Amino acid sequence: NFEQAVKKLINDFECPTESLKEAMKEFDELRKKGLSNDGEMLAMAPAYISSLPTGQEQGDFLALDLGGTNLRVCWVRLLGQGKYDIKQSKATLPRECIRNESSQPLVDFACDHIENFLKENFSSKFGCPESEFLPMGFTFSYPMNQTSIVDTTLIRWTKGFNIPEAIGQDFGTTLTEGMRIRKLPVVIEAVINDTVGTLVTRAYTSCANNTIMGVIFGTGSNGAYVENVDQIPKMAGKVNKKKMLLNIEWGATNFTSLPATRYDLLLDHDTPNPGRQMFEKRVSGMYLGELLRRSLFHLIKVYNFNNGIFPPSITDAWSLETSVVSRIVANRSVENVKEVLRPYSIRFRSDEEALLIYDAAYCIGRRSARISAVPIASLYLSTGHAGKQADVGVDGSLVEHYPNFLGMLRESLKDLIGDDEKNITIGIAKDGSGIGAALCALQAVKENKTIE
Ligand code: BG6
Ligand code: GLC
Repeated sequence: NFEQAVKKLINDFECPTESLKEAMKEFDELRKKGLSNDGEMLAMAPAYISSLPTGQEQGDFLALDLGGTNLRVCWVRLLGQGKYDIKQSKATLPRECIRNESSQPLVDFACDHIENFLKENFSSKFGCPESEFLPMGFTFSYPMNQTSIVDTTLIRWTKGFNIPEAIGQDFGTTLTEGMRIRKLPVVIEAVINDTVGTLVTRAYTSCANNTIMGVIFGTGSNGAYVENVDQIPKMAGKVNKKKMLLNIEWGATNFTSLPATRYDLLLDHDTPNPGRQMFEKRVSGMYLGELLRRSLFHLIKVYNFNNGIFPPSITDAWSLETSVVSRIVANRSVENVKEVLRPYSIRFRSDEEALLIYDAAYCIGRRSARISAVPIASLYLSTGHAGKQADVGVDGSLVEHYPNFLGMLRESLKDLIGDDEKNITIGIAKDGSGIGAALCALQAVKENKTIE
């Protein structure tokens, strides 16, 4: 019957602590492989940033943030003492820009926004000599190999992007060319991942000297941390630094120890990158709504839920957003569940049914938060922080908007590392990409000066 079906679904999404502990070991092994060789499941991509900010940095920079959902152009003033001013303009990325044979529509979209921002705020800069161009940090949050702070090669797209032409190319160079044609007075000084931005921003704003990781739970999921160069065999002889910030690209982890439900497998099949980003597809904001849609589809088809009627919100892939899951789990009441799902033409035969749907939605988000603790716990222990205070910077729409996401993540951390959980502070690195891009551009400009 229906109740048993929902209980089975909830059970499928369960993640026993033992499996999570297995996953921690698996993550550590995959991390070490990625430290040794290029082309492994975890990219462990060096960011060519070798230290964290102290909080005393100062300077003015442009920042461009190309995330999974939005494009942001920012002007950032670093004031020192962990303080900053930021002015930003944000636009949702249109579908035709992010799924296209050619990179040009995305470059045009970005250039339009940069141009408008400059016209509004820096009109006097147009026509200035190249030596006076505004320095910009570019947050480009996709798997890329770097050979310097500004030279990158896109490995593949994630988060639903599909622009085949850009793979294997340096997107910073493509963008620079677009800006040159429009005579925009901007020079890209640094290209960073959003997790790197989150890590340096948290280190800057907390001024506490114990930030060890930057983590995103948003449209996608990923983490960055500081590694000792002597622990990175694939970098041997390549850099003359002791430390290196690494972009893990943990969304790509394909854990064998974590259960995959039928909904996970069906969802994966319907993405532009099947078989890839399997961790991200269970965790991040791009996918939780779709997991709920597929669960509801199954309940209608097999158990006559909604009187067997399939509304378009249930038949059309990707039409239930994660915000729907968020709004359902915000309040376990019959009224709330009914109200949230009414616009999607879902009706309930009884109050019990509405509460069961609440429980189904809840277990999808809870699995996300619980498995999100795995890479954090694994890194904390295996990079020598056990028993020590450590700080983690986080950002992204799940952390910001999903009810109690961090609370559930912390519960899971406690299951995994016991009392050490109390040693870990987790704080939001607000404006992470903008501030992070500015901080990295500052470091790049300083290093260029030293080399000259
Ligand atoms: C934002 C950062 O706050 O969070 C972005 O500025 C980052 O760089 C983003 O990519 C991640 O969250 P979401 O939900 O927008 O993918
Ligand atoms: C995806 C991207 C990664 C990014 C993450 C969070 O996993 O591949 O680079 O950091 O999403 O935005």
